[in-house]
Amino acid sequence: MLSEKEKIDLITRISIDINEVKDLDLLLERILTKVRRFFNADAGSIYIKEGDELKFSYTQNDTLQQRLGHGKKLIYNTFSMPISNSSIAGYVARNKEAVNIPDVYHINRRVPYNFDRNFDNMSDYRTCSMLTVPMTNQDGDVLGVMQIINAQDDEGVIIPFSPSDESLIMHFATSAALALDRAQMTRSIILRMINMAELRDPHETGAHVNRVATYSVEIFEDWAKAKGVKAEDIDRQKDVLRMAAMLHDVGKIAISDLILKKPARLTDDEFETMKRHTFLGARLFKDGHSEFEKVAAQVALNHHEKWDGTGYPGHIDPYTEEPIPGFETKNGSPRGKKGDEIPLFGRIVALADVYDALCSRRSYKDPWPEDRVLEEIDGSSGRHFDPDIVGSFFNCLDVLKSISRRYPDRDPEEG
Ligand code: C2E
Ligand code: SIN
Ligand code: SIN
Ligand code: FE
Ligand code: FE
Repeated sequence: MLSEKEKIDLITRISIDINEVKDLDLLLERILTKVRRFFNADAGSIYIKEGDELKFSYTQNDTLQQRLGHGKKLIYNTFSMPISNSSIAGYVARNKEAVNIPDVYHINRRVPYNFDRNFDNMSDYRTCSMLTVPMTNQDGDVLGVMQIINAQDDEGVIIPFSPSDESLIMHFATSAALALDRAQMTRSIILRMINMAELRDPHETGAHVNRVATYSVEIFEDWAKAKGVKAEDIDRQKDVLRMAAMLHDVGKIAISDLILKKPARLTDDEFETMKRHTFLGARLFKDGHSEFEKVAAQVALNHHEKWDGTGYPGHIDPYTEEPIPGFETKNGSPRGKKGDEIPLFGRIVALADVYDALCSRRSYKDPWPEDRVLEEIDGSSGRHFDPDIVGSFFNCLDVLKSISRRYPDRDPEEG
């Protein structure tokens, strides 16, 4: 267990980290890790309020993680529950009060809520002590619920959470809610920008950009771990990559609807116009000096380059649209970037984007069956894609598939 001094250090660090992280998912991951370490809790979850429901959004479980083995990721399915008194988390959200249960299998009969044993049964886990608190913002609105499970003493024996833990975790939950408020605002502004830009098509939703961004982060993490990149560097870059990947096609804002929404194959001329979305996107971040803006420009510019040099737009100045001197081909057009000439995040988003495009319905194509998609990607290794990135893609394929279930395409008929 942590000493008093370590605890105070950790509290200070949690608030700093919260300010640094702008992205929602990564923010939740980090808060939950720190809070669990603080209370020496084996497991924990965060539920986010969406409308009248609580969405089970993030979970960590050391015991299950150890059973799974090092480096693997817990796969969790998103599910929702109503904000009602029948579940523990629902009760906490509805009544805005903490619930501290020493053993969820022996709950006082007079309370309205029940513990749902499904998760334990499915995962062969035994939940015992559970502390659940509301995450409320300044206005007193509930934004979500934080739940930590199975406090342990120094010998690893499961113990109840103490009453003094209740007010302490409320402090964390409140600062998490404030950061969540800000992060949700940032994300909704970006999503609006993307909606305006790329998703003018009523048949599209934010799901594609969310999936491409989340796939990219997973692939990057696997790649970077294999290359021995330091964990803190990976974490820092993940935030930036996610936002930048969401904006990979933002240059489509400048492409006419006639081309963008054409329900058939493009002519050669139309495709030449479409290719401009790469450097037009990069130009949107022209005067940006932040790391995010630089990476966003890089991803927009490079996500259609190919490892073997046959991609586009190649070695081009995004502003003048002229080839970079020394990189002209005989006909005067810029030579395609190849191999390591393509920035890493461009190589990663290229694969994430094609994987998602092949799995999805487009105005011009049906979704491909999974085995054909995987064959295509495998066969494109060393041609379209960086072989190392393809390796990382297959390493985390199970996680990618669970992500795609988190961001389903909405049925256009439903509106
Ligand atoms: P997108 O639909 O997001 O597709 C991204 C990339 O996924 C494509 O880049 C391509 O590399 C891959 N991809 C998508 N569908 C297929 C497919 O059926 N077969 C194969 N082998 N690969 C596929 P690309 O080709 O540079 O296209 C960039 C963007 O241009 C596409 O983004 C889409 O918005 C548009 N586009 C491309 N071809 C057509 C078309 O025939 N009709 C229409 N309406 N739009 C197209
Ligand atoms: C609940 O809060 O009621 C659900 C807890 C769980 O199933 O882990
Ligand atoms: C996209 O690439 O995200 C959208 C393509 C389309 O609208 O078909
Ligand atoms: Fe694109
Ligand atoms: Fe795309």
